[in-house]
Amino acid sequence: MTGSSADGLDLCLVHFSGDRDDPDYEVLYSGEIPYPKIFQRAFQNPLVLDEGQINDLDQALGIWLADQVTNLNLQFDCIGSHGQTIKHNPPDFSLQIGNPIFMAERLKVPVIYNFRNADIKQGGQGAPLIPIVDQFLFKGPEDVLALNIGGISNLTVIPKQNSDLPVLAWDTGPGNSLIDKAVQLYTTNKLSFDCEGSIAAQGKLNSILLKHLLKHEFYSTQPPRSAGQEQFGLDYFNQILKEFYPGTDQKFKDFIRTLTVLTAKTIATSANDLLKLYSPHFLFVGGGGYYNSTLMRILMNELPRLQIEGVNISGINPKNKEAFGFAYLAYRHLNNLPGNIPSVTGAREEVVLGTRLRPIF
Ligand SMILES: Nc1ncnc2c1ncn2[C@@H]1O[C@H](COP(=O)(O)OP(=O)(O)O)[C@@H](O)[C@H]1O
Ligand SMILES: [Mg+2]
Repeated sequence: MTGSSADGLDLCLVHFSGDRDDPDYEVLYSGEIPYPKIFQRAFQNPLVLDEGQINDLDQALGIWLADQVTNLNLQFDCIGSHGQTIKHNPPDFSLQIGNPIFMAERLKVPVIYNFRNADIKQGGQGAPLIPIVDQFLFKGPEDVLALNIGGISNLTVIPKQNSDLPVLAWDTGPGNSLIDKAVQLYTTNKLSFDCEGSIAAQGKLNSILLKHLLKHEFYSTQPPRSAGQEQFGLDYFNQILKEFYPGTDQKFKDFIRTLTVLTAKTIATSANDLLKLYSPHFLFVGGGGYYNSTLMRILMNELPRLQIEGVNISGINPKNKEAFGFAYLAYRHLNNLPGNIPSVTGAREEVVLGTRLRPIF
């Protein structure tokens, strides 16, 4: 898994066994490999890449992924590879790169990739895809909320067993995307994110800026909805800077604080909408945003009814949850099981997600 934060590759090796529809799972290995600077720079602002650059990066990333997986020296039967999102334009298409042919050839296993387009062909958003994973992990006697804070944040509610209510999920707005960009600008790229939220902790909320930011049309778009660089990428960030450039050191800290509050508030608004219909006690958080303590503190204050915790079940934690998710989606593909949830993506039908590339021996 390589998410929109463009920080690097998350890996998770999972052994599935037992019942086909509801397998047992064991996490055998997890890891994170930071992207080389050249990928980081390109993927932090993918919308400006031209066709030639996209093709070159598709190949270069495909080779890099094959190198990383080969170096791990692990044994496995299949790879599920999400790839790096370059453009996310539902209802037309969603483009991920990282050509799978290099992994298939070097590792001699099938690679499942292109997870989003089968859902888009059914009229869906092609996102979010993690809700079926949330359902697999958290389905039980109580309603549960699951949140992922990557570059973008998404929230899922999993109704309790035998409930008549559907699984619902949508992107709530930015996760770390705007915070990361502000920190990179503030520190002239010495830091790529606000480690533990320490900069935001030194800032004060700029309520006027927050009010302005909350006017973004995405927040009033009805689900199914999904977001990407198109909504919360560099263009939008530069637009904010044009209107509210933080001119002093303290104003930069206030700016980063305000973006952190924006992420928390927009997550909380979506959670509160779901709390009108569902009765969860727990919200389990995944994604790198979990490690931003300031963000988590603000979120807890915004949602006092919920117990908010990092995902922590059977070797799955906030760092590897999404990578685990794509292992599970690859498992579903191999077993011909659908991977999308129409009540979430808006697709007409459930479909098996992904394209399978078999190695030519
Ligand atoms: N220790 C930390 N403190 C604060 N933020 C962190 C920390 N570790 C990771 N993050 C945030 O998480 C992001 C990466 O999260 P990730 O789940 O990989 O997102 P994505 O799926 O978009 O790549 C980083 O860009 C950073 O903003
Ligand atoms: Mg990442």
